Amino acid sequence: MRIECKPGIGRQQYLLYKEQAVIGRAEVSGGQLQQLEILPEWRSRGYGSYLLKEVLRAGGGFDTAAETRFTAPLPDPANRAAWALARRFGFVRRGEVLCRHRLPDLTAVQLAQHLLTDLLQPGGLYIDATCGNGHDTLFLCRLAGAQGHVIGLDIQPMAVQATNTLLAQNGMAHIGQAILADHRDLLRYAPAGSADCVMFNFGWLPGAPHAVHSQAEASLAAVRAALEALKPGGVLSAVLYSGKVIGQSEKQAVLDYLEHLPLARYTVLVCRFANWADTAPLPCLVIKRPDTR
Ligand SMILES: C[S@@+](CC[C@H](N)C(=O)[O-])C[C@H]1O[C@@H](n2cnc3c(N)ncnc32)[C@H](O)[C@@H]1O
Repeated sequence: MRIECKPGIGRQQYLLYKEQAVIGRAEVSGGQLQQLEILPEWRSRGYGSYLLKEVLRAGGGFDTAAETRFTAPLPDPANRAAWALARRFGFVRRGEVLCRHRLPDLTAVQLAQHLLTDLLQPGGLYIDATCGNGHDTLFLCRLAGAQGHVIGLDIQPMAVQATNTLLAQNGMAHIGQAILADHRDLLRYAPAGSADCVMFNFGWLPGAPHAVHSQAEASLAAVRAALEALKPGGVLSAVLYSGKVIGQSEKQAVLDYLEHLPLARYTVLVCRFANWADTAPLPCLVIKRPDTR
């Protein structure tokens, strides 16, 4: 069995072959599934599922990081198999069409970014204490805006270079800059009481050897420095990791430290993915209470 895709202008046609014979076909145009048909003698054997899955997959429909939308005409009300197939693949009736709308899975980093977007005002001093490939630094630059300033720190030269390149490509080099530095030395770049936000995304640099990753001792020292660097009302966000490569010690040490911060001075949120494994990334947020220094 094989599927052949014949791309056309603005539409794709999919042919499902059993040996040399075409037994099914589908046609998609801009996310609209206009036709999906299996020859009657081959129905009820899973070929419709096979073809639909391939059509959705080819259109990014199983990408967990992207929003996708497919529509299809309503099947004949008597065609129970077609309704069941549509349901199995997440199509629901929306007025006079079937619709399959999938939002990207929420990641720990996205959650941290959503929370920071709600809490921060443009124009501040933001520190990305683990700038890596620069995605969080770029996010912070967009939040900070033209009146703000963003400093990215990383101990790996390739990370600093990647971040500065990403900022330049996105026209953000006048707002943000990455520096080769250990985040334990954060107070050199953001003196006590000066920062509106310090963001940590611990772990290793995606795409680089896993041998270099953040370590409990340095991370704890950096979190302490970050809290000192924050202004009253400032926000620290940290995504903590554990697992085979990185172990448990960093997550445990930072978590323990955050959980024992005095309530009178800090609001601490630990946003656990409750139905995931213990090794799930753990987004944490600390707000330095406005009446403290
Ligand atoms: C998960 S990555 C960060 C991803 C990054 N925020 C992004 O958007 O691409 C973690 C980064 O922390 C860096 N790192 C580890 N220990 C560090 C330290 N002591 N000081 C500064 N950066 C450190 C690593 O080099 C790595 O690039």
